[in-house]
Amino acid sequence: MNEFWNERYRAEEAAYGKAPNAFLAEQLADLKPGSLLLPCDGEGRNALHAARNGWEVHSFDYSAEGVDKSQRWAREANVAINACVADAFAFEPERTFDVVGLVFAHMPADKRRAFHHRAVNWLQPGGTLILEGFNPDQLQFTSGGPKDPSMLFTEAMLREDFADLDIVRCELVRTTLNEGPFHQGPAAVARLVATRRA
Ligand SMILES: C[S@@+](CC[C@H](N)C(=O)[O-])C[C@H]1O[C@@H](n2cnc3c(N)ncnc32)[C@H](O)[C@@H]1O
Repeated sequence: MNEFWNERYRAEEAAYGKAPNAFLAEQLADLKPGSLLLPCDGEGRNALHAARNGWEVHSFDYSAEGVDKSQRWAREANVAINACVADAFAFEPERTFDVVGLVFAHMPADKRRAFHHRAVNWLQPGGTLILEGFNPDQLQFTSGGPKDPSMLFTEAMLREDFADLDIVRCELVRTTLNEGPFHQGPAAVARLVATRRA
């Protein structure tokens, strides 16, 4: 699977564009910049945006090609992104973060809950988790995402996985993606904003 992503990111063209995910950017704009962790950050479009807007950005992805590209983009933009190559189930930061952003970070069904629980533990008390991913209605569209329905997010699943957080917003939404060649057109997404109790 890792090689699938390396292959995708090896191309010069940005797979999901160089602009950030619109929902993440909108949510970050409402928060005071602090420390931000972006797991499964791919080529780093979201990291690049956040760093440009005053966030102290940490990110990881298990694709070395993705991390290399994010570091190149950071150098070109003259901003700092603390990116590393890591698997989501091995990543053990020595600290917690004000915000954790999960953008199209879909895991196999048997690993999803554990991954979401790990993400909760990466948040500091009072911190905010922001998530956007595809919901099962996405299977009718061609704008990207896993084709395995068990990897897609239902509202009930997210409410259960993140039950330890205070859920501010959890909804399934129709949108139109304009994110590079792989996320183009009408899409069905799930969005969550939740905070860890102080
Ligand atoms: C659809 S891409 C989204 C990339 C980025 N979040 C964005 O929105 O541009 C999914 C990413 O998850 C990463 N990924 C999947 N499983 C992973 C795992 N177990 N550990 C680390 N990264 C993983 C892939 O390498 C890929 O970059």
